[in-house]
Amino acid sequence: MEKIVIEGGSRLEGTVAISGAKNAALPILVSALLTEGWNTFDNVPDLKDIRTIKRLLIDLGGKVETSGSVVKVDASGLNSYEAPYDLVRTMRASVLVLGPLLARLGRARVSLPGGCAIGARPINLHLKGLEELGAQISLEHGYIEAQARSLKGAVVYFDIVTVTGTENLIMAAALAEGVTTLRNAAREPEVVALAETLNRMGAQITGAGTPVITIKGVEALKPTSFSIIPDRIEAGTFMVAAGVTRGNIKVVGCEPSHLGAMINKLQQAGIRVDQEADGLRIVGTEMISSVDVKTLPYPGFPTDMQAQFMVLMCLANGLSVISETIFENRFIHVSELKRMGADIAISGNTAVVRGGGRLTAAPVMATDLRASASLILAGLAAEGTTEVSRVYHIDRGYESIEKKLAQLGGHLWRAPA
Ligand code: EPZ
Repeated sequence: MEKIVIEGGSRLEGTVAISGAKNAALPILVSALLTEGWNTFDNVPDLKDIRTIKRLLIDLGGKVETSGSVVKVDASGLNSYEAPYDLVRTMRASVLVLGPLLARLGRARVSLPGGCAIGARPINLHLKGLEELGAQISLEHGYIEAQARSLKGAVVYFDIVTVTGTENLIMAAALAEGVTTLRNAAREPEVVALAETLNRMGAQITGAGTPVITIKGVEALKPTSFSIIPDRIEAGTFMVAAGVTRGNIKVVGCEPSHLGAMINKLQQAGIRVDQEADGLRIVGTEMISSVDVKTLPYPGFPTDMQAQFMVLMCLANGLSVISETIFENRFIHVSELKRMGADIAISGNTAVVRGGGRLTAAPVMATDLRASASLILAGLAAEGTTEVSRVYHIDRGYESIEKKLAQLGGHLWRAPA
């Protein structure tokens, strides 16, 4: 196990380049299962979760070749339909193979993912949608047993907006007979990127990015190439880092149109966000204003930025109310921030942050991916030396975050726990 040691107090200055989006790369790499032949994806981030999904593709019979940020996948040799417990347990996004396996092989056995730190995270809507496309699904010994002689288009209504649920159904419907309509579909940029990739493979998908997505099934899909979109959550994390250190940084390689809600809230808090030719300029302020935030499906404020933004509100000059509407247990970072002097009161899915205080260094423990990012941000802002343990969480979703922050003048390094 490792920890990250942070000496707080330095202003971040300079330029940081944003990597490809984990949550786009995962479904896009899996979509290769729908084709035979070599697919080429570039700008793929080097993350633990990406390594996990590549291992799963190989276990299913696929071939994977990696050269830097270029990943090639050939699923011609697909010869298994099982996603084993030990893999799904480490990364729940493995359930994304359900749709493609059913579409390609008519069969899938995927370990039912357990809960995780931020919530129960059921996949009932994935399964309900696949059943509506004609799959027979049962649960045996902790595994989802799914089979379908053929998948037929249907109208699928999602009771709750689900990102990977939408992605699973898009991939299953791409090779189904007839037309599938997804209603109350997720509108995230990562869903749009997946649809663009599939359309390059020959799929006929319209409406991605809106709540109604229509997929006209085709006989077969052919391999393609695609460049992974920038990670809007990594970009948002660095933008908040500029705010909490009163720094002045430029974020390059991001997609500003994916960052609207975050830019809006940062500007309301008094942080300057200007669009420059090759990226966004973020300039912090001594007087951070408190603003209220409610997490919502895209294009609302992303739940994956809630913990990071809370750190900024700890330094603001008043009360801010942060409501987490997506996951039922995504305030685990609060108790760790309180160890650093934060004044936060939780009531149900709402946290009231009393700003104006200052954060002081303390040993803290990461519990999930985005909570660990928030603790690193808090360490950058705190007086003294903070140690964040269990940083394996952060390696799932950020490419060398401590190196990128150090290049901006942050004093932090990785050390044995
Ligand atoms: C995706 O998770 C992201 N992961 C998450 O990012 C992100 O936080 C989340 O979307 C919300 O934006 C990937 O894309 C790999 P959901 P996902 O299905 O698809 C409930 C990160 O930090 N729900 O949109 O699993 C669910 O419990 C990760 O990178 C059901 O009830 O999230 C939640 O309350 C964390 N039944 C809500 O919907 C279902 O069948 C939204 O979940 C599916 C979901």
